[in-house]
Amino acid sequence: MEQHTGSLDGRVYLVTAGASGIGRAAASRIAAAGGKVMIVDINDQMGAEAVADIRAKGGQADYTHADVRSRADLDAAVARTEQIFGPLSGAVAGAGTSATHPAEDFPRQDWTNVLDISLTGCFNTCQIVGARLIENGGGSIITISSVNAHGAHAGRIAYCAAKSGVVGLTRALAVEWGPRGVRVNSVAPGITNTPPVARGLPKELLENVLLDRIPLERMAEPDDLGAMCAYLMSDDAAYVNGAVINVDGGLAAGYMTTRRFRAPVEQEVRSQND
Ligand SMILES: NC(=O)c1ccc[n+]([C@@H]2O[C@H](COP(=O)([O-])OP(=O)(O)OC[C@H]3O[C@@H](n4cnc5c(N)ncnc54)[C@H](O)[C@@H]3O)[C@@H](O)[C@H]2O)c1
Repeated sequence: MEQHTGSLDGRVYLVTAGASGIGRAAASRIAAAGGKVMIVDINDQMGAEAVADIRAKGGQADYTHADVRSRADLDAAVARTEQIFGPLSGAVAGAGTSATHPAEDFPRQDWTNVLDISLTGCFNTCQIVGARLIENGGGSIITISSVNAHGAHAGRIAYCAAKSGVVGLTRALAVEWGPRGVRVNSVAPGITNTPPVARGLPKELLENVLLDRIPLERMAEPDDLGAMCAYLMSDDAAYVNGAVINVDGGLAAGYMTTRRFRAPVEQEVRSQND
């Protein structure tokens, strides 16, 4: 549950993809901790709903339309955030998208679109926000990668490449900007209960394959990710830099383990060997 910890009181954050799913949960958690949040998205209606939701709970939020592919949009979003709320303290670079095709037929247009939004959009956000944070004397950036940076799904060559790129970009920025007071970390969600997952995954794949491999035996809720984002923004995470933190119920820890093999199997193996 959201708690007003006050750990982000008076600080100013921008959240791309903040209108839905994981970004929305991050915005909500950051606001609940006292941060002032600019939700940045291309879905204006859902953006307005996310703002109304935060305000109804007593938090401070506003919305700006910006496509992470457009540096002009992002420049304007950062300027508007600082005009309304004051100097920027950090950002969640949450925007990402996927497309599914066999690798040998993967359309060039889909490859470009996935890379443009998920990787170059993340770079654009980090670079534009990071420059402001350096001028402001420091801050914190969170990229949203994926467990697909560690292990692949068939059919998602562009997404896996983009999210692996996000991890590399995060580490490079952490090294370069750490000395200038800007921490950069990545949150790698596992399977999270957001609209694309509800829309896109066949029920059988979800129940028989994916949940079978999650030791906590449930999907993540967006708030599981939001909580990690609020923590990484806070001073409790003052020494966390360049980390890639899986919030995946243990999925990446046990890729080779299905439900059946989570119980000890020694007895079974011993009796087979007898
Ligand atoms: N849901 C999962 O299981 C899961 C797992 C791993 C990683 N992720 C990553 O988490 C992030 C959020 O995903 P989600 O599941 O919450 O999706 P979502 O669809 O709920 O939210 C994505 C938001 O991004 C916005 N958006 C799309 N293109 C944009 C653009 N060009 N510029 C600005 N905003 C744009 C959409 O309008 C939407 O509001 C993505 O980077 C995704 O790859 C999700």
